[in-house]
Amino acid sequence: MKSTEIEEIRILRPDDWHLHLRDGIMLRTVLPDTAARFGRAIVMPNLKAPVTTVAAAQAYRQRILAALPEGMAFTPLMTLYLTEATTVEEIRAAKASGIVHAVKYYPAGATTNSENGVRDLRRVNAVLAAMEELDLPLLMHGEVTDPAVDVFDREAAFIDRHLLSLRRDFPGLRMVLEHVTTRAAVDFVQAAGPRTAATITAHHLLLNRNALFQGGIRPHHYCLPVLKREQHRQALLAAAISGSPQFFLGTDSAPHPRSAKESACGCAGIYTAHAAIELYAEVFAQANALDRLEGFASRHGPAFYGLPCNHDQTALRRETWTVPESMHSGEETIVPLRAGEQVFWRILRI
Ligand code: DOR
Ligand code: ZN
Repeated sequence: MKSTEIEEIRILRPDDWHLHLRDGIMLRTVLPDTAARFGRAIVMPNLKAPVTTVAAAQAYRQRILAALPEGMAFTPLMTLYLTEATTVEEIRAAKASGIVHAVKYYPAGATTNSENGVRDLRRVNAVLAAMEELDLPLLMHGEVTDPAVDVFDREAAFIDRHLLSLRRDFPGLRMVLEHVTTRAAVDFVQAAGPRTAATITAHHLLLNRNALFQGGIRPHHYCLPVLKREQHRQALLAAAISGSPQFFLGTDSAPHPRSAKESACGCAGIYTAHAAIELYAEVFAQANALDRLEGFASRHGPAFYGLPCNHDQTALRRETWTVPESMHSGEETIVPLRAGEQVFWRILRI
């Protein structure tokens, strides 16, 4: 049956393999949106005080669980923030903890709260070797920070300058190139074999860089890596619907207060958790590939991380609804993707 004729689908409950939950009031605001849709999420460690130790990850995990509304089932999968001071002992403790599932590499200065990230990858060689030995995945924000490199080319430059040699030097290390945005990244992942994977966001599947300048400058479409040309969106879409287990769902839902987005120097990040699986369903339906959604959203991620799939199911129905203009978070508001506009799928309680 053509996807355009399908009115309802059931898939194993999905997971989000790349998510920003923040902390405090913001955490309490955004967590229910994710917990209503996903069984688990890989939680990014780029808090203002980054999550660099197992103790900090444990404490953050407790704060997330405490913020979860009663009756909602959701498991946060924690990550450590890699710095040049991260020790091999911390990596061993992370693996032994059972709650830390990956280590996140931010090039210093690449994005939100990345100042404590890595300046020189050679300084973390011993840590990467320990991760390879222990089979603890490395998650990468794959962009160079060299100001001489055009902002639209920073992902491709990262692959050429760093990733190819990293892949060669640590052949057993499980790596996820997060939120891929280019054909170069898709090609790299496909050629690199089964220990390399990529997450793909809903916004990079839905939008190309024109969305940044639609009738004026659109700060709510600004994220990092920045949206790219249509040909790259097409390459991401082909990868997402390919059925390859190397590609899976990671929203990179990244809430910021409206005031921080609508600013002379607006923050990077798009909030999508309020309609995440619905937006992916829209993309897959348009591509006549709804039969591939379950693999991408619910099977490939757990397989890569060595975890079981969720047991319960999620149903999605073709039904149009309007996204609120904004969400309150304490004194602040968050402007979600498609604010005031329509989404064409709805999750059903089953
Ligand atoms: O758009 C983004 N927002 N990209 C990132 O890499 C970080 C994230 C955030 O934390 O706001
Ligand atoms: Zn992110």
